Amino acid sequence: MYTQAMDIAPKEEQRAVRSLEEVELMRRFDAKIDAGDYIEPKDWMPEHYRKTLVRQISQHAHSEIVGMLPEGNWVTRAPTLKRKTILLAKIQDEAGHGLYLYSAAETLGTSRDELLAALHSGKAKYSSIFNYPTLTWADVGVIGWLVDGAAIMNQVPLTRCSYAPYARAMVRICREESFHQRQGFDALNIMMREGTPEQRAMVQDATNRWWWPSLMMFGPPDSESVHGTQNTRWGIKRISNDDLRQKFIDATAEQAKVLGVTLPDPELKWNAERGHYDFGRIDWTEFWRVVNGDGPCNRERLAARRRAHEAGQWVRDAANAHAAKAAGRTPAAA
Ligand code: 3HC
Repeated sequence: MYTQAMDIAPKEEQRAVRSLEEVELMRRFDAKIDAGDYIEPKDWMPEHYRKTLVRQISQHAHSEIVGMLPEGNWVTRAPTLKRKTILLAKIQDEAGHGLYLYSAAETLGTSRDELLAALHSGKAKYSSIFNYPTLTWADVGVIGWLVDGAAIMNQVPLTRCSYAPYARAMVRICREESFHQRQGFDALNIMMREGTPEQRAMVQDATNRWWWPSLMMFGPPDSESVHGTQNTRWGIKRISNDDLRQKFIDATAEQAKVLGVTLPDPELKWNAERGHYDFGRIDWTEFWRVVNGDGPCNRERLAARRRAHEAGQWVRDAANAHAAKAAGRTPAAA
């Protein structure tokens, strides 16, 4: 197995000589990772492992919270009460996912305020997929089918992540993601079977717009993945970006046939020799442009999050005042 001790921590952290005690602590950490054991918050861990987890878990949490915005746009315009309640339930789930993940990140010694400040300042990332607009009702179904479908593919391996609080949070999140993907596919299936030609065209249009950005959710190619190698050594990343992307394409190509939509990739073809679908070139220039803040909705999404945070200040003040009062309250008479 890899030697985690050779971790490629940033220069400032790779001190020339470690104390004997730290060498022993690192050896024990490596042995736990090698044995497939979990690391708990109270366990010793290399500072680079901790920082990597704060980065990934907090960005994952930001993705959940920002991810509520594109669909929130359609709550008041859902075509039926049933679709409205399903959409509300899904959006509420995403808020819960964000809270589990912020709580998991806080077990690493960071605070909610720090994490949110990093998001609101534009320093922290969130998934590029949420920087695309939801133009029609079909987008809501396609987001469930493709975006939540990709999220499940990317998140299930995280239920075996070496950092225990993250793995535990992912078990519950993945269960709820399955409902998200199912409800999206179901909405599209109805539109394709019972809808008008215009509604079917709406589903195809949404599929055309969301297909390639959904493939980008798995991250850059392994050859350009900055954290891939190290995170695999540490048991954070269990399957590589490219392998997960391929798994998603293989599964979704079949689902598209059931739905009766065409995925917008003329090179998408089953390759019996590989046992996978071949697919066309992903536009990584678009990916990095969106990741670096220049996507269709980046500014709008961040502005919405900053506004929501400011508007919620009175709730935080009231909760803090209540907690202070409760803490100061004399104990009830025995
Ligand atoms: N969007 C934005 N940034 C991305 C990205 C994406 N789709 N893919 C990669 N990046 C960033 C990484 O964050 C990293 O930047 P950083 O160092 O500033 O953080 C850089 O690009 C290099 O990419 P790497 O492959 O080296 O990064 P990772 O190894 O971290 O892989 C990842 C990226 C696959 C997204 C990984 O972080 C991961 O698995 N994260 C946990 C799952 C997650 O966050 N999923 C996002 C969607 S959540 C969601 O969809 C909610 C659902 O309910 C809809």
